[in-house]
Amino acid sequence: MQHEKVEKNVGLMAFFVVIAISFGGLVEIVPLFFQKEMNEPMEGLQPYTAVQLEGRDIYIREGCHTCHTQMVRPLRAEVERYGPYTRADEQVYEHPFLWGSKRTGPDLGRVGGRYSDEWQKAHLYDPRSVVPTSNMPAFPWLFERTLDGRHTAAKMTALRRLGVPYTDEQIANAQAEVAGVTEVDALVAYLQSLGTLVSGRE
Ligand code: HEC
Repeated sequence: MQHEKVEKNVGLMAFFVVIAISFGGLVEIVPLFFQKEMNEPMEGLQPYTAVQLEGRDIYIREGCHTCHTQMVRPLRAEVERYGPYTRADEQVYEHPFLWGSKRTGPDLGRVGGRYSDEWQKAHLYDPRSVVPTSNMPAFPWLFERTLDGRHTAAKMTALRRLGVPYTDEQIANAQAEVAGVTEVDALVAYLQSLGTLVSGRE
């Protein structure tokens, strides 16, 4: 009888559905907040250098994450293609995370060191020059623009508030490290750092 009431009343039904889903969500999500391997950095995890950090912002600005994920899933086909699956403890300094959800291009979670800097630059300047069938857009303007590093220290200070362990020295030197670096060099420095902490790729 009670059940019939709920089934015949859309409002009541929606209310209970929301309660049920919220409860299910909490049961799955809340324990993760307290699990060590979800919150604590992997041993040896380093925050991005000032130049890599600027490269990451260029990655976001250019929308690379709309075509590329950065999460190797624990599936055999993925691990064989990209390398060891992505772990939570190598991502704790990512603000915001760039796991992505669309794979027009390959996953980049372990692309660091896979190609030379020269290859990466040629590919960004004109993807077809190194991968003839590529439909990735070209990013030639990255070669013309130079960074001045005016905001790098402020970005690092903000990240430190979120728990990324930048030292005062790193923050003080940030502008000098970044000033004069081309956008493409910063982006390549970032790409070359991706996923390099986990070894074991054959
Ligand atoms: C419109 C979708 C799209 C966008 C945007 C895009 N890519 Fe790609 N990317 C691709 C495709 C498709 C490939 C595979 C063909 C190739 O290697 O060029 C690729 C390949 C790559 C590869 C080689 C990966 C490998 O393992 O072989 C790298 C590195 C890369 N992209 C970096 C970037 C960066 C950095 C940006 C942003 C500046 C970017 N991509 C933006 C679609 C895209």
